[in-house]
Formats: sequence, structure tokens, C-alpha cells
Amino acid sequence: TIKIIMDTDPGIDDAAALTMAINDPQIDLKLITTVAGNVTVDKTTKNALKIVRFFNSDIPVAAGAEQPLIKPFEDAARIHGESGMPGYDFPEDLPKPLNKTAVEALHDEIMANDEKITLVPTGSYTNIALLFSEYPEVKDHIERIVAMGGTLGYGNMTSAAEFNVFTDPHAANIVYNAGIPIVMVGLDITMKALLTPASLEKLEQLNETGKMLHDIIIHDGDQSDAGSAVHDVNTIFYLLHPEAIKTEDMWVDVVTDGPAMGETVGDIRGAYHDGKINTSVCVDIDDEAFNKWFLDEVSKINQ
Ligand code: BDR
Ligand code: CA
Repeated sequence: TIKIIMDTDPGIDDAAALTMAINDPQIDLKLITTVAGNVTVDKTTKNALKIVRFFNSDIPVAAGAEQPLIKPFEDAARIHGESGMPGYDFPEDLPKPLNKTAVEALHDEIMANDEKITLVPTGSYTNIALLFSEYPEVKDHIERIVAMGGTLGYGNMTSAAEFNVFTDPHAANIVYNAGIPIVMVGLDITMKALLTPASLEKLEQLNETGKMLHDIIIHDGDQSDAGSAVHDVNTIFYLLHPEAIKTEDMWVDVVTDGPAMGETVGDIRGAYHDGKINTSVCVDIDDEAFNKWFLDEVSKINQ
């Protein structure tokens, strides 16, 4: 099994990624931490707890940063709705979050494991940047960071920047310079791996989980006639099916100010960083395999 921690801001596609990570037997999800992003951290924490409760899981949830390191907080409620996860009636009797902050919980969980663990951030990287400044020793216990965020092409916030990196570019800059291998699961593949209208129709019919995911995904503002982007789910697909994703190794820098703030600049020619590498950038994906896998995964869930 692959031991992971997810740092999330649910968020519709975060909820779908959590669904896969909680239920896939090859993944051992140890901890969920939350961050402000799509909506405020109170709401992202509540939404993470709704997903945990939906599956009657006992995976702990710890609430994290209320705002980015430096930049003022701006949510994405226009895409994810006021609650961050609209369209489905979740149970009201939610479990409680841990009685410690995300940074403390991350530190404790990472240090408690003998094996190195994989971090999977699907929100902005504020908690992880704070963790690295407070407890630099955790870095030696992290296998790699498989992060949704960034783009080599156009952004979805500004022409240059993707939402998670744009939300906290200073945190992203710290994470990309932490000396830990990163897999950048960015818009270059997540805008290709759309759930097609035909897949969404099938999803609704599979079981209650399929209906829940269908009902929240159709409320996502990230849709077109071609299908629905479920960005964060690509991280879990990558962990399980790296053969379906093409990557290129390079150095990635994060721009922290000016009109390109939040841009992830890939040194594709190796000219600026002399061929040094800090990131495997996902550049292409088998979107048919992604659709098929998504439906298969949900069909196996007994709920
Ligand atoms: C990212 O932004 C958020 O709105 C989504 O949940 C995803 O993590 C896509 O740019
Ligand atoms: Ca997200």
C-alpha cells in the first residue's frame, strides 16, 4: 500500500479525490488536513468531515491555516458554491476534528511512521510551508509530494497562474524549494482528463457514492460541453496508474509577485537551472483510461 496524507480544501473535486483515497485498498490514507482555499477553512474542514462521515471512516481530520502566508485570502465560491460542496444532503452528525492544528497533526503523523510517507496536497500549500518552517526534520521522512497545482500553459485564475498556487504563491515557493521530489499534477493534464457527460450519467446510476459525486460535480463551475474537470482526483490516479500519465523532469520555480504571480515556470530547456531537477511535471494523460478508472473505483465502493 501507498501511505499518504491529504492536505485539502474541499471543494468538489477534493471531495472526489478523498473518496478515492479513503476507499482504494492500495492507498493507506493516514490523515486529512484542511486549508482555506475554495472556501474558508471552517467550511473546508466541515466538508472533509462530511466525506469521512459519509463513508463511516475513522481517518482523523485536522484543521489548518485560515489564510495564506502573506497574500490576502480570496475564495473560489463562485466555482464551488457558498458551502464548497453543494448539491447533496450529507448526514448532519459529523465527527469532530482533532484537537490539534494541521501543522501539529502533520508533524506527529509523519514522525510516527517508520516508512517515508507521501504528501498529497490538493489545496494551496500553506500548511505544508508552515510545517517545513516549524519542523524541518519532517522533510527527511517524506517520500515525495504529489501536488495538484500549477500549469506550464495558461492558468485558470490569471493567464499565468493556477488557483492553488495563486492562492498562496509564497507557500508554493517554499514547497518547491524544500529539496523533496515533487510531482506537479497541474492543469496541463487535469484540463484534459475531463469526466465526460456519458461518464457522469453512468456515475449517477452506480451506487449512493456515485450519486453523491454526480450531484456535487454537476454543481461545479468547472464544466464545459466536453465534460467536468475534477482536478484533484488526478493526484490519486497518478499514484495508482503512473503508466497512464506522461511526465517530464525539470526545475520548477514559482513567481511570487507581479503580473505572473503564482506562475509555475518550468525550466524546460534546462537553461536557467543548468539541468537541475526538482519536479516531475505531468504533461499528458490517457483521459479515456481516467474516465474508465473513475467509474471502476466508484463501482467497487460498498456504499
Ligand atoms: C484547483 O483549484 C481548486 O478550486 C480545485 O479544488 C483544485 O484543487 C484547480 O485549479
Ligand atoms: Ca482543491
